[in-house]
Amino acid sequence: MKIAIIGATRGIGLALARLALADGHEVTVLARNPGRMTISNPNLHIVAGDALDPSSVLEVTAGQAVVCDCLGTTNVTQKLTMFSQCAQNLAKALKPEQLLIAVTGIGAGDSKGHGGVLYDYLFMPLVLRRMYDDKDRQEQIITRDIANWIIVRPGFLGNGPRTRHYRALTDLQGVHGGRISREDVADFILSQVTQPQFVGRTPLLIY
Ligand SMILES: NC(=O)c1ccc[n+]([C@@H]2O[C@H](COP(=O)([O-])OP(=O)(O)OC[C@H]3O[C@@H](n4cnc5c(N)ncnc54)[C@H](OP(=O)(O)O)[C@@H]3O)[C@@H](O)[C@H]2O)c1
Repeated sequence: MKIAIIGATRGIGLALARLALADGHEVTVLARNPGRMTISNPNLHIVAGDALDPSSVLEVTAGQAVVCDCLGTTNVTQKLTMFSQCAQNLAKALKPEQLLIAVTGIGAGDSKGHGGVLYDYLFMPLVLRRMYDDKDRQEQIITRDIANWIIVRPGFLGNGPRTRHYRALTDLQGVHGGRISREDVADFILSQVTQPQFVGRTPLLIY
């Protein structure tokens, strides 16, 4: 299948690119600095550009069956708009038949309050509030303006291996945080690329 990944130089996006290429998919990534891509493959295409630039997003999404938004940032000190700006660009670029799979995180939308006491009452308000305000806007744009979407909300990320043993939860009753490796988030996204079972839903991924 033809898959685009926005944000694939590291983290979940890079893990997803690796897994998808290993399965024989044709992968096109959007990278601000193509030199940061540490993998190469005849089926890997790199579009140099920025997720904040509408024309870059239009270029990377053109002709793709599935588009995966794996953007991330370490900036937690300033007001953020990158997630919502990219979502707006995607809303303009995507055709109704294209599937968007977007990574947000535990604490976004109605997963707020399910991160456990430390996360919900300390980390979220003191450190992550600006980021999650924008992830909330991102989710609102996706659910309102994009026809075909899955929002993936990982728990606390780690760099462990691909286990394929995790839970994808849409009923969060009794959930108070949890961990998941980036490799397993990528595994889940790839499963939804080939057999989408969560269209229009917001699965939370934890072990
Ligand atoms: N840490 C956690 O516990 C946790 C929990 C739940 C959810 N999450 C979320 O999961 C997502 C993925 O996190 P991660 O740690 O796997 O990835 P990451 O290391 O944050 O990687 C982010 C990717 O986004 C790219 N990127 C950033 N701004 C861009 C722009 N304007 N245009 C194009 N590409 C851009 C980066 O590329 P370059 O910088 O190389 O250009 C990089 O490839 C994030 O949204 C994060 O908030 C994290």
